[in-house]
Amino acid sequence: MSAEDPKILEKLAAAMASAQPKEPLIPDSAPFDPEQRLWLNGLLSGLHAVANAGAAEAAPGTALTVLYGSQSGNAEALSKDLRKYAKTQGFEPEVAALDEISVADLPAMNHLLIVAATFGEGEPTDNAAKFHAGLMAADAPALPATLNFSVCGLGDTSYAEFNKAARDIDARLEALGATRAAPLVTCDVDFDDEYAAWRDAAFESAPFKSAAGAAMAPEPSAEPAAAFDKNHPFMATLMVADRLSGAGSAKAVNHIELSLAGGGVDLDYAVGDALGVWPVNDAAEVTAILAAAGLSGREAVTLKTGPAQLRAALISRLDLTTVAPKTLEAWGLDAAPEGAQVIDLLAMPDVAPDAQTLVDGLRPLQPRLYSISSSPKAHPGAVHLTVGEVRYALNGSDRKGVASTFLGGRLAEGATGGVYVQRSAHFHLPADDDQPLIMIGPGTGIAPFRAFLEERAARGASGRNWLFFGDQHAATDYLYQDQIEHWGTTGLLTRTSLAWSRDGAEKVYVQTRLKEAAAEIWSWLQDGAAIYVCGDASRMAADVDQALREVAMAEGGLDAAGADAFMDDLTATHRYQRDVY
Ligand SMILES: Cc1cc2nc3c(=O)[nH]c(=O)nc-3n(C[C@H](O)[C@H](O)[C@H](O)COP(=O)(O)OP(=O)(O)OC[C@H]3O[C@@H](n4cnc5c(N)ncnc54)[C@H](O)[C@@H]3O)c2cc1C
Ligand SMILES: Cc1cc2nc3c(=O)[nH]c(=O)nc-3n(C[C@H](O)[C@H](O)[C@H](O)COP(=O)(O)O)c2cc1C
Repeated sequence: MSAEDPKILEKLAAAMASAQPKEPLIPDSAPFDPEQRLWLNGLLSGLHAVANAGAAEAAPGTALTVLYGSQSGNAEALSKDLRKYAKTQGFEPEVAALDEISVADLPAMNHLLIVAATFGEGEPTDNAAKFHAGLMAADAPALPATLNFSVCGLGDTSYAEFNKAARDIDARLEALGATRAAPLVTCDVDFDDEYAAWRDAAFESAPFKSAAGAAMAPEPSAEPAAAFDKNHPFMATLMVADRLSGAGSAKAVNHIELSLAGGGVDLDYAVGDALGVWPVNDAAEVTAILAAAGLSGREAVTLKTGPAQLRAALISRLDLTTVAPKTLEAWGLDAAPEGAQVIDLLAMPDVAPDAQTLVDGLRPLQPRLYSISSSPKAHPGAVHLTVGEVRYALNGSDRKGVASTFLGGRLAEGATGGVYVQRSAHFHLPADDDQPLIMIGPGTGIAPFRAFLEERAARGASGRNWLFFGDQHAATDYLYQDQIEHWGTTGLLTRTSLAWSRDGAEKVYVQTRLKEAAAEIWSWLQDGAAIYVCGDASRMAADVDQALREVAMAEGGLDAAGADAFMDDLTATHRYQRDVY
């Protein structure tokens, strides 16, 4: 505060003129004559009044609700940014996951911002599913026009149902009567700019702007900032990359061990967390792209982050496969052939972007998540992953996934790669070591359960453990067979149910084994067991979910609605947790 500030002087003068101190502030014993004493008493009460006026200005701002639907953390991180930003605009924000509120809470709100990711095949995230269902329900309540909202969607243009969850929520809020303060923005994987533009538009919209209080300085965050995150990865050293699947298996699956020690700071994780891995593209693929584009790779280009040499940008900064709307826009194409990747477009005779146009049409390379398959108690300073290599044929040539083959081959032992821990909000080992666990994880879905079992062994947990595992063939696909059999003999694994889909005349899946063991599953559930499912989201997770409902009907005597309510209750009490992808 400066005495030269004319506003401060005005306030002081006004306060001094009206100051009626109840008690003199300058004691009679102080060495001032009566005139000085009067002046000083006026000054001090004036300062007192200004201080009180300041306190009144800092009173809480307008209430604002920020809700997020997030699976892998992006929307949740943006909701934290919104909290900070809203405070600078004089709002008093409350932040929660969509499922932490009910649709019945909406009418009481006046200012609502939603950041919602889409998962699965156009579905809401696990922490938004209940809210989404309630909002879409035929009996959802009418909403008042005083509910001013705006929705930002996080998605990926390579999915057929781009940003469906956010689009559903946005349209339904309006249909129920709420007021859309600023238009829906649907972001692709490189969401930073689109998100920032949406945030500005929302706070600049009339209903938000007119309600904004006095701008306040951002408060320091109560949560300590993570030392390493998606944008500040830890450089982990590859220690081991071993093939887990046998020769002749349809899929190469690798056991990866990374060292997290070094640099003076270690990266912490808990079982149930995932590891984000920043991949590097295959140099041979970069060479093929350059050849198809007729470029040398030595060209200078400008990325969002600054200047770069073309080849280096293609190696580690850009997604070399996905044809996104920005690809068509930058390269002047109306449409791409069905299933075409970047290299297929560049092979077309009339597609010849220059170096800058080439990079302008490519999305930034993104990290991939992997369920952590080790317990830090069993492997201090290290993290293990179980990674299936993605390889397929397309348009007459062999194609491969970036990150799974980077970890399985291109990253040399002893070399480093950028990683970060993606904390799991909804997939945790229970704190109660006595609670029975049913773990269903075919294929690479075994990963978190290896970690859970290692953790339970290290803790000496006495709870019963039942593992369901499966894949195509016992001979080639029994991942971690030695360890699983060892846990069977030590008693850590109370039961192991295996399902091999191509070893017999009939296809047997984990859901087949679940239904066969319906009576025991029901009995474990009556004993308080928690059910965990990890792995393929497209078929397995839905089939297992259905099998569990059938178990509840067959063994619990429930009808379909009763089985649904039973499963809802398991979810609400964290006894049904899924990590599916
Ligand atoms: C929370 C979470 C946990 C995960 N945990 C694990 C884990 O423990 N282990 C694991 O192996 N994976 C796991 N994944 C999957 C992993 O993140 C990657 O998606 C996977 O490894 C593929 O990445 P990539 O970079 O190798 O492939 P990408 O370069 O991303 O290529 C995959 C893409 O290739 C295309 N494609 C694939 N097959 C075909 C085909 N037949 N025809 C045409 N196009 C095709 C599709 O567009 C597909 O999206 C997890 C995912 C999530 C979200
Ligand atoms: C397994 C999986 C399925 C996804 N399905 C969709 C989809 O159907 N539609 C879409 O627009 N985005 C989809 N995405 C992209 C996510 O919405 C996007 O990565 C988003 O940034 C995730 O936000 P979050 O970290 O807050 O969960 C999918 C991503 C994954 C990993």
